[in-house]
Amino acid sequence: MPERLYNDPMDTRTVPTHPFPDQKPGTSGLRKKVRIFLQPHYLENFVQSVLQQAGLAGKTLVVGGDGRFHNREAIQAILKMAAANNVQRTLVGRHGFLSTPAVSAVIRKYRAAGGFILSASHNPGGPDADFGIKYNSDNGGPATVTFTDAVYALSRQISEYRILAAGEVDLDQLGVCRLGDMQVEIIDPVSAYAGLMEELFDFDLIRDMLVDGFTLCFDAMHAITGPYAIEILEHRLGAKPGSVMNGVPLEDFGGGHPDPNLVHAHDLVVLMNVGVAAPDFGAASDGDGDRNMILGRNIFVTPSDSLAIMAANAQFLPGYRQGLAGVARSMPTSCAVDRVAAQLNLPCYETPTGWKYFGNLLDAGRITLCGEESFGTGSNHIREKDGLWAVLFWLNLLAVKRQPLAWIVHEHWARFGRNYYSRHDYEGIDSTAAEGLMDNLRNALAGLLGRRFGEYVIANCDDFSYTDAIDNSVSQYQGIRLLFANGSRIVYRLSGTGTEGATLRVYLEQYEPDVTKQAMDTQLVLRDLITIAGQVAEIPTRTGRGEPSVIT
Ligand code: G1P
Ligand code: ZN
Repeated sequence: MPERLYNDPMDTRTVPTHPFPDQKPGTSGLRKKVRIFLQPHYLENFVQSVLQQAGLAGKTLVVGGDGRFHNREAIQAILKMAAANNVQRTLVGRHGFLSTPAVSAVIRKYRAAGGFILSASHNPGGPDADFGIKYNSDNGGPATVTFTDAVYALSRQISEYRILAAGEVDLDQLGVCRLGDMQVEIIDPVSAYAGLMEELFDFDLIRDMLVDGFTLCFDAMHAITGPYAIEILEHRLGAKPGSVMNGVPLEDFGGGHPDPNLVHAHDLVVLMNVGVAAPDFGAASDGDGDRNMILGRNIFVTPSDSLAIMAANAQFLPGYRQGLAGVARSMPTSCAVDRVAAQLNLPCYETPTGWKYFGNLLDAGRITLCGEESFGTGSNHIREKDGLWAVLFWLNLLAVKRQPLAWIVHEHWARFGRNYYSRHDYEGIDSTAAEGLMDNLRNALAGLLGRRFGEYVIANCDDFSYTDAIDNSVSQYQGIRLLFANGSRIVYRLSGTGTEGATLRVYLEQYEPDVTKQAMDTQLVLRDLITIAGQVAEIPTRTGRGEPSVIT
């Protein structure tokens, strides 16, 4: 019997509180400025609402986070509240660390009832930056909208929460202790996840490629994937020490913005473009480890292309040798994977933005791979997108093909055509102006049908509505789509993860089947669509911005 950490009397306190009006989870959990979370009772109210909705008495709960500022304090509060709410057992990552994909893997491995992830994903961390909390359910995936709506409703009525009056749990020592009647197990955050990766990919083949001189660089951006990448890439696969850069997780991510894209992973991008001295392969992941960026020498693989290339080649990898049941992409993601699905005769689903919409399809066995344009790819191995999984997928594929990464991409385009693709973000714009822009577009839809802009004719347009193929739930207003007769698309939506003002996202896509026209500059190819997008939505006048703040 593990030792009781705190002796009786175990004092479960019922603390009176008042509701906060702003605890509605967004695209991915409740995400706010740290100062909002530091308000007395703020975190506790939300946690109590989740515990109540999930009904975790007598069950096992997983807890961990991306190591950002306030991670440890939040975990201590959650543990005391879990104990006071009769949770039987909690599994906590050592130092309070667990990447989002690792939480999903651990929930599934230990058949836990759910898990809390403390993270604001790719948003900056630190006292003046962002914090967040997400709840994943027993399939390992983000809670459904039905669940989070119910949590929100509870948070509007809450009048008290339960918490144990106890000292702190030592998060830094592996092993088991008790908090009241609850067992707390501090687990190695990496081992279950790394074991799962070894089942899916051919580590021997990757190791051989590295022995033959293949070089790589992984930028952990001082976020959670550092320990995972060092263990998997350097220790288990034998990549040279130092192949993982920025590998120590820091509370403020070293002052950086832990988002693996061409703008924020700048050092890596520079390194990959120094010519023959560049590593053969470069990759990065975000704050909580679920995003990925893939680079070769002088080439960036768009996440949409990455998904399509994975779908076209999955059968070469041990975990996917049986073939794919189907594929799915979020609506704004480019249609590159649709081309693969059509040629390979695979079902292909188009879902709203947010990983939670893949959950039912994965659970029902309808799809094996899925992805989003926002640097997220994953498979049925867990119920989250998975940054290091994508990196290992690419390394395994490179080890099978033994070709430069750029060749694999160019061969793919030659076979399936190239979907030129870019996302333009207008960050931190006035919320009212942003809502007005979207309302205006929505009202203009009927008049836009059939309209011609030079060579581009709008063949279809709508505000995307999705009916879940498994439970028939309907999600409306998921983004305005302009679909052109030549297969091009413009999509507009407002971000659901921001913490300041609004962010307008404009997604642009143009298909090019002609192999002689597949090596052009993306922004140049898309310039007409960019102009049309600005004109139709009146972006400059309504937002006061002539240019996007981020182009990916
Ligand atoms: C963004 C991405 C979306 C992703 C989410 C969580 O949401 O666009 O694809 O699922 O982050 O990582 P958004 O801010 O657009 O609502
Ligand atoms: Zn993330």
